Amino acid sequence: MAKRILSGVQPSGTMTLGNYIGALRQFVKLQEEEDCFFCIVDYHAMTLPRNVENLKENIRKLAATYLAVGIDPKKATLFIQSDVSAHLELGWIMTCHSYMGELERMTQFKEKSKEDESIPTGLFTYPALQAADIVLYNATHVPVGEDQKQHIELTRNIAQRMNNKFDQELFVIPDPLINEVGGRVMSLTDPTSKMSKSNPNENSYISLLDEPKRIEKKIKRAVTDSENHIRFDPEEKPAVSNLLSIYALITDQPMSAVEAHFEGKGYGALKGELAEVVVDQLSPIQERYEYYYHSEELDRILRDGAEKASTVANATLRRVKDALGVGI
Ligand code: AMP
Ligand code: TRP
Repeated sequence: MAKRILSGVQPSGTMTLGNYIGALRQFVKLQEEEDCFFCIVDYHAMTLPRNVENLKENIRKLAATYLAVGIDPKKATLFIQSDVSAHLELGWIMTCHSYMGELERMTQFKEKSKEDESIPTGLFTYPALQAADIVLYNATHVPVGEDQKQHIELTRNIAQRMNNKFDQELFVIPDPLINEVGGRVMSLTDPTSKMSKSNPNENSYISLLDEPKRIEKKIKRAVTDSENHIRFDPEEKPAVSNLLSIYALITDQPMSAVEAHFEGKGYGALKGELAEVVVDQLSPIQERYEYYYHSEELDRILRDGAEKASTVANATLRRVKDALGVGI
């Protein structure tokens, strides 16, 4: 039986090469075989005040990016979270079945709440809304980057807790799908932190919309080490290993083949070839992005997607409301 896939990305600005390798690229492969739902989680983006400003534009940008990387609305359902009201309704119910203690343990909350003195309550309860996003679609698998593993674990716990409490299989218990290599693409300027668009240093990440010249420049400036010896060794050589991983993923090759290819070459060659394959991969995506961003087709796809998603989500919500005994 086909797997039921659900994943979400926040519309919080331009996507990075990390998002692409860790998440979007997996989505495109999965839609060929599995029954997929991909969501633009705008209510999640709202948990940080700085994201509220360009929300409308960022939602359109993300929708155009999904389509540009190859999400095909004939194969997968693409929709905006706020167009399906069942997310907030079940989100509240999940919030009431999650505990302060387990939410306090979430690494992403700890990280993000460092940034500001006033921490929105929504930033704290957000993993319960994420749990609702997932179980509404009876998802069996959730493709994400490594940083989301803890949220999926929490989803499993809340869902199982409610199944036990109501003594029925209200929810399917989902598994995370995380790429072994590429689940965590690291910053180009500091290989100990993940590549992220929220890093104020723009040289630390490659945006999916960066022009070729800019990509070349950023890769040329990427930190390495003093050896000038190409070898995949994430412990001893994290910076070079990150560049090699990106190369392997983009060219769809095993690491052994990539190491053999660069045998005896220097870091200059690695950076030059890496820039070339990244530019080759991103150029057609950028062209399609421009098309979709300005096209009315995009609006139609999102409207159809919301309709399909609502049918599935509302059926789950109905089941849960009946189990709880709320509503008529
Ligand atoms: P976000 O932009 O934080 O909403 O992330 C969207 C998706 O991209 C999630 O599945 C993340 O786990 C994934 N992701 C974000 N940054 C990276 C990265 N540096 N490496 C791998 N996956 C990532
Ligand atoms: N929390 C995820 C992130 O920050 C985004 C997200 C929201 C998500 N709902 C989801 C991911 C459901 C997978 C499934 O990247």
